[in-house]
Amino acid sequence: MALHEIVRRVTTHVLHEMKLKGEKIAMLTAYDYSMARIIDEAGIDIILVGDSASNVMAGHETTLPITLDQMINHAAAVVRAVNRALIVCDLPFGTYQGNSREALASSIRIMKETGSHAVKMEGGREIQESVVRILSAGIPVMGHLGLTPQSIHKFGTYVVRAREEGEAKKLVEDAHILEDSGCFGIVLEKIPASLGKTVSKEIKIPTIGIGAGPHVDGQVLVLHDMLGITQEFSPRFLRRYHNLHAEIKGAVETYIEDVRSLDFPNEKEQY
Ligand code: KIV
Repeated sequence: MALHEIVRRVTTHVLHEMKLKGEKIAMLTAYDYSMARIIDEAGIDIILVGDSASNVMAGHETTLPITLDQMINHAAAVVRAVNRALIVCDLPFGTYQGNSREALASSIRIMKETGSHAVKMEGGREIQESVVRILSAGIPVMGHLGLTPQSIHKFGTYVVRAREEGEAKKLVEDAHILEDSGCFGIVLEKIPASLGKTVSKEIKIPTIGIGAGPHVDGQVLVLHDMLGITQEFSPRFLRRYHNLHAEIKGAVETYIEDVRSLDFPNEKEQY
């Protein structure tokens, strides 16, 4: 039997059922074939081909520089690796803001050229028209509220969002707008845990938190952060499950020593 016949694929419908049953959703980012294969085999529910690729893969300070072509390359590689997880691809900065026709055109390119299952966009009321237009083409959309890194130059800082009543009220309203417009889920980034709880109770679609406390319907982390490949980024919400930076560096140092000392290759490692 082929793998896709024995593995139940995660769909937006499955995620909705998980919320109804109170089963937590686990989501991680991936940007390439090899990593996506490992995390899919491990049983991750959603893989986000995030525009955080701009930071962790390309070394940019913000998510703004990454292009649609680059996102498409990352997403196509991830899709080739995955049998089970739902694959969501970020619409990068400048490919949807303020223009719902462009938002649809960008989403169609992602769906056609990568095989992703859904797109994600940052914003609430401002993206409502785009959400509706993209959905009219049958493309599932995920929202993203709270700290939205594509607006970093407007915020001026990466501190916790919506601590203040006015911003919290707007976030709850935006969550309702995204739900009513047809989004299948919403990422909530870096907001107070109490607000994460309120939003998750009020709306019927799954909320996926990153620094949004334990009461959301699922959690997402950037893979390179939780594996300890990146070192410089240490927000309070980040749990590091490994120190791969040290492990990889140690392995490479040993290899260099082995090459220089003629220990590698040995008798068994040659023809
Ligand atoms: O691009 C990304 O990695 C994201 C997550 C932080 C949710 O949007």
